[in-house]
Amino acid sequence: MKAQIPKGLFDILPYGSKEKWRLVSYWQYIESVIHEITSQFGFVEIRTPVFELAEVFNRGVGTSSDIVSKEMYVFQDKGNRCLALRPEGTSGVLRAFAEKNFSQLAKVHKLYYIAPMFRYERPQAGRYRQHHQFGVEAIGVLDPMMDVEIIDLLWQFLQRLDLKGLTLEINSLGDVSCREKYKLALIHYLSTHKNSLSSDSQVRLQKNPLRILDSKDPQDKEIVEKAPSILDFLSDETLSHFKKVCAYLEAIEIPYCVNPKIVRGLDYYNRTVFEISSNALGAQTALGGGGRYDNFTQIFGIEPLPGVGFGCGIERIIQAILAQNTAVPTPSHPFIYFIGLEEKSRNKAFSIVSTLRKHHIPAVMDFKEKKLSHALQRAHSSSSTYCVVIGEDELTTNTIKLKNMKSREEKTLALDSLVNTIIQMWK
Ligand code: HAM
Repeated sequence: MKAQIPKGLFDILPYGSKEKWRLVSYWQYIESVIHEITSQFGFVEIRTPVFELAEVFNRGVGTSSDIVSKEMYVFQDKGNRCLALRPEGTSGVLRAFAEKNFSQLAKVHKLYYIAPMFRYERPQAGRYRQHHQFGVEAIGVLDPMMDVEIIDLLWQFLQRLDLKGLTLEINSLGDVSCREKYKLALIHYLSTHKNSLSSDSQVRLQKNPLRILDSKDPQDKEIVEKAPSILDFLSDETLSHFKKVCAYLEAIEIPYCVNPKIVRGLDYYNRTVFEISSNALGAQTALGGGGRYDNFTQIFGIEPLPGVGFGCGIERIIQAILAQNTAVPTPSHPFIYFIGLEEKSRNKAFSIVSTLRKHHIPAVMDFKEKKLSHALQRAHSSSSTYCVVIGEDELTTNTIKLKNMKSREEKTLALDSLVNTIIQMWK
C-alpha cells in the first residue's frame, strides 16, 4: 500500500520536515517550558485516556456545540459501547476528578495536561484533525482571583516564549438565568434579521443563538454588530465577579479588552470567558482560550464545584514563534562521536561509548562502515562537539586524536586514558 497519513493529521519528526513547526525539537522546548511554568504556578500533571464514553463529551461540551454535533470522532467498540476520541481536555479531567473522588482529597485542585485532541474539521493552516493542547483546570475555587491566575499563567507562558502581538479578550456569560434572559433578547433581535443571516446562523438561531455572535460570515458580523450585549444582562453577583476579574488583571498589568461577542464554542462555560490571539497567524489566530465552568461536576452526580481553565494549541504557538523569528534554544547534540574503522576498533569504540553513557555523557557510535569520509560527514552533521577515529594504528600505538569539530583542533591522547579525559572534559 502507499504510505499515506490520513487527511488533517501530521507527524512530529526529528528531521526531514519542510514545515519547521513539525520538528520535534520545538515541541520538546515548548513542553519543557510548560512543565517549568506550571510547577511554578503550583499545578500538577494529569493524564487521561485518548478516548472516553461519548456521553462524557455529549453532556460536558454539549450536543448543540459544533465540536460534539459535527466534529467528534465517535465509534462503537466490540462491546457495543459508544466511545469518542477526546475533542477537548476539560471533560475527561472532570470525569476522572469525579470518578476518583478528588473532592474528598483536597479543597483546591490545580491540574494541567499536554494532550492530543481530535476534531473532524476542514483542514487548513492552523486547523488539524489531531491537534495538541496544553490545558489547565483549577477546580474548587470561585474567587475571581483564580480566573486571573489562570489567565496570568497563559499570558506568562506566551511571554516566556517571547511571543509579541498578543491580544487578550475577555467577557462574562453570567449564570444560567442571565443567559436565558439574554438568549431571549438575542433571538428577538436576530429574528428581525433572520433572512439576511447566513444559512448556518439561521440554523443556530434555534439551536445555539449565542454562537451567531462569533460567526465569521461578513453579513452575520454586520448584523451582530448592533446586537444586544450580554454584559447588560448580568446579575449583580456575576457583574461584580466580572469587575473584579478586570481589576485583578489591571493590578498585575495584563492588558485586555472586553469583547461581549466572545462566547466560546463549548456549552459548559459560565461567568468569565477569554481568548488570547496572535497577530502573527493568518486565518486561525486564537492561540488559546478558556473560562469558568461552575456546574460541570454535577453531570457526574457529584456536588457542584466551581472550576476555571484554558486550553491552548501547541501547533499554533510554534507557528507563531516561527512567524516572528523568535530564537528557540537549540536541541542538545552528542558530546562525542566515535568512528571505528574495522572490527577490532569498532569493538573498542563500542565499549568506550557504553562506558561514557554510564557516566551520562551523550556519546554516539557510527554504524555505517566503509568510507571514512562519509563517516566524518555524519559526525559533522550530528553537530557533535568532538570526534574520535579508531583504527588498527590507534590500537597498536595506543594513541588517538581527539578532534574538536568546531575549531578543528586535534589533541593526541593515550587511548587507555580517553574515557577519563572525556569524563573530566564533560564536567
Ligand atoms: P478550544 O478553544 O476549543 O477550548 O481549544 C483551545 C485551543 O486549541 C484553541 O484556542 C486553538 O489554539 C487550539 N485548537 C482548537 N482546535 C484546533 C484545531 N482543529 N487545530 C489546531 N488547533 C486547535 C477547549 O478545548 C477548552 N477545553 C479549553 C478549556 C479548558 N476551557 C476550560 N478549560
